[in-house]
Amino acid sequence: MAEIVRVSKKSIKKAASIIREGGLVAFPTETVYGLGANAFNPVAVAKIFEVKRRPYFDPIIVHIADPGEIGRLCLEVNNRAKILIERFWPGPLTLVLPKSDVVPDIVTAGLETVAMRMPSHITALELIREANVPIAAPSANLFGYLSPTTAEHVAEQIGKEIDLILDGGKTLVGVESTVLDLSGEPTILRPGGLPIEDIEKVIGKVEVCVISQKPRSPGQLRRHYSPRTPLKILKDKKFDILEGVKAGFLSFTPIKNKSPFKKIEVLSASGNLQEAAANLFSCLHNLDKGGLDIIYVEPVPEIGLGKAIMDRLRKAEGIKNPGANSSELDNNCVLGVKS
Ligand code: TXA
Ligand code: MG
Repeated sequence: MAEIVRVSKKSIKKAASIIREGGLVAFPTETVYGLGANAFNPVAVAKIFEVKRRPYFDPIIVHIADPGEIGRLCLEVNNRAKILIERFWPGPLTLVLPKSDVVPDIVTAGLETVAMRMPSHITALELIREANVPIAAPSANLFGYLSPTTAEHVAEQIGKEIDLILDGGKTLVGVESTVLDLSGEPTILRPGGLPIEDIEKVIGKVEVCVISQKPRSPGQLRRHYSPRTPLKILKDKKFDILEGVKAGFLSFTPIKNKSPFKKIEVLSASGNLQEAAANLFSCLHNLDKGGLDIIYVEPVPEIGLGKAIMDRLRKAEGIKNPGANSSELDNNCVLGVKS
């Protein structure tokens, strides 16, 4: 089992030397925990894919601690990128640009582009600076499963197979970065911690391409970010649970009638979308451990961070529950719920 150490100058030094020597370290960012390796070491990056059981077609984000580094990693930093970096880095925005030769192919899964981000979490920044190399890091979870927002989530999923977990407490933003492809016309590949509206205020309208038959970005797969328990997004708050069905409920705000549910998690006491995003994966982890047959979910308003939350929830609903995207939605009794 990997050692779990609280963040300190000493533990960051230790983590940095593990990274430099080709090992794997889980570390906090402002969005979710990342599983980091030296981005310039293809063997270390290959270990990330093994540990996560991640398909090799899924490219990894390169994390840097200085915006100037981007010039080395990509061929050309276009104007839109410059403006967005100036405005939003460090922070939960990942930019995709044509890659330079210094980035190993395994990092980008053979694509001609590289995804880069400068996190705002002080521990992440100190780790990158101390390691003195860019850090390739996907979220520190098994492929397709819920992302980790605490060191415990990391330990439960992949703790046995990595070298160290830096424990910086619960992450603040709670959903992954927004991925914006700037290699052509600006296209959102994944809504995330930076609201799309904020980006559009700076560079104008962007295309949003989050589900694709032939994904440019595997975050676009129809099913992803998924608990093991089937999950269903409700259309309204009125429902009855059929007898014998152990149902859980993920509620946006506190609810009065708790009786039909075996377990309830509330995203935000005050209906605040930032708080809801920060709690999303923790609440889903808790429900998934609750021995439930199904998790019902109350939708959140699709503005600002609400878009990233609903994106994750729809993908968690995914193909496990084919009713989600078909007329079966109107026949809720099949799934143990009556509208
Ligand atoms: O907030 C985050 O972004 C977290 C923290 C650790 O930084 N990282 C994260 O990484 O969520 P990951 O690997 O779980 O998701 C990265 C997404 C994937 O959907 C991947 O396909 C996409 O970014 N991506 C990476 N490189 C890409 C590229 N060159 N072109 C298109 N999509 C890319
Ligand atoms: Mg991920």
